Amino acid sequence: MSMTSMATTALARANRAAVDKATAALAAVSAKEFSSSAMPAEVVLDAAVSDANKLEKKHFEIPEPLMMGPGPSNPYPRANDAMSKALLGHMHAPMFPLMDEIQTGLKYVLQTENEATFGLSASGGAAMDAAVSNLLEPGEKAVVSVSGIWGERFTEKCLRHGAEVVQIRKEAGLTPSFEDIEKVLEEEKPAVLFLCHGESSSGTKQKLDGIGELCHKHGTLLVVDTVCTLVGEPFFTDAWNIDLVYSGAQKCIGCPPGLSPMTYSARAMEKVMSRKSKPDIFSFDVTEVGRQWGFNGDKRPYHHTPPINIMFAMREALQIVSEEGLENSWNRHLNAHYQLWEGLDKLGLKPFVKNPEDRLATVNCIEIPEGLDAGKLIANAFDKFNLEISGGLGGTAGKVFRIGLMGYNCTPRNVESVVTAFEDGLKQQKFL
Ligand SMILES: Cc1ncc(COP(=O)(O)O)c(C=O)c1O
Repeated sequence: MSMTSMATTALARANRAAVDKATAALAAVSAKEFSSSAMPAEVVLDAAVSDANKLEKKHFEIPEPLMMGPGPSNPYPRANDAMSKALLGHMHAPMFPLMDEIQTGLKYVLQTENEATFGLSASGGAAMDAAVSNLLEPGEKAVVSVSGIWGERFTEKCLRHGAEVVQIRKEAGLTPSFEDIEKVLEEEKPAVLFLCHGESSSGTKQKLDGIGELCHKHGTLLVVDTVCTLVGEPFFTDAWNIDLVYSGAQKCIGCPPGLSPMTYSARAMEKVMSRKSKPDIFSFDVTEVGRQWGFNGDKRPYHHTPPINIMFAMREALQIVSEEGLENSWNRHLNAHYQLWEGLDKLGLKPFVKNPEDRLATVNCIEIPEGLDAGKLIANAFDKFNLEISGGLGGTAGKVFRIGLMGYNCTPRNVESVVTAFEDGLKQQKFL
């Protein structure tokens, strides 16, 4: 058992002991006050209980690999430990200062002063649904940049929502230029432009500087996906005039998945407030969620039960990022990226993204050499080194390996392990 899981288990035991003690004290009082001579009752059953799917009593061993794929990444141990605290009621007074702290930390990592900044209780992909549901009314038009799976997904979500879509399509490994985007915005004047800051299926980084101003000139709101980039690549919500940003917890932030950072600009909130119809997904309606987070009115009524333990972890992860500082974090990711490519280059491996300026530091795509059995190399890395690397996704499936350098895992030592695993896999298949 690792030091982290031993510490986590010890903490969990201490918490359980505290809860058990309180329960025993209460039971002693109620036994005195409410003792009854009635026979224990039994429920009356209308049908026989099937044991077909009853779990066997056995220990289920969960492996603990070093996760160097495109995410999730191993969380910071301190964030993991924070999850094992006893639960707090989400509507109880101590929870609100904790949510306020998360909000402050998210404003830091998103580099924004937007009031409507919070963690959506859902996956990164669900935050994409929330963006579509809140910013687009049926019949409105979105321009969507597509050079991988995330642009395809945004398109699919817009169409299901009844919005019209015009795509800017680029091959995997390329991104649209400022001029490409300018031309489409002038022609289409869409309600929303979607760009993916880090296209994790192909390893490209979208340049964003100046696009916000361009959008606003045409009455368009700019939506940006930062699921695999936030905290790992320089990003400025306010300075780049972005209207809606969503991200994920489980990548460069170093928190387990389940609470997705989101921020809406004042312009985006104006649009939401002036809609003809309400956003169609109640659970993701930013005006409803915002009441519980305390930025839409001063009361904090119940909206839903959030993943409370993930919130503990998120606060801790944001604390760690704040201690390191964003500039240091961005430099750490960039240096790991250079170190990785220096190592891979010596092994004769080639980057999938040809223009170095367009390469993500956080998700690195490596061309699979002709004749190499990629699955065998991935399996060897896992079996021999307990190291997780991934293949491609969508259009890059069968074409690339993907290496994530994200958050807690982004260290020189882990990069060395990845290079060693590649070297070993290539030697095994006589490529070296
Ligand atoms: C760029 C990007 N957007 C969206 C998502 C979807 O996030 P989730 O898997 O949390 O739904 C991912 C996940 O890998 C991603 O890399």
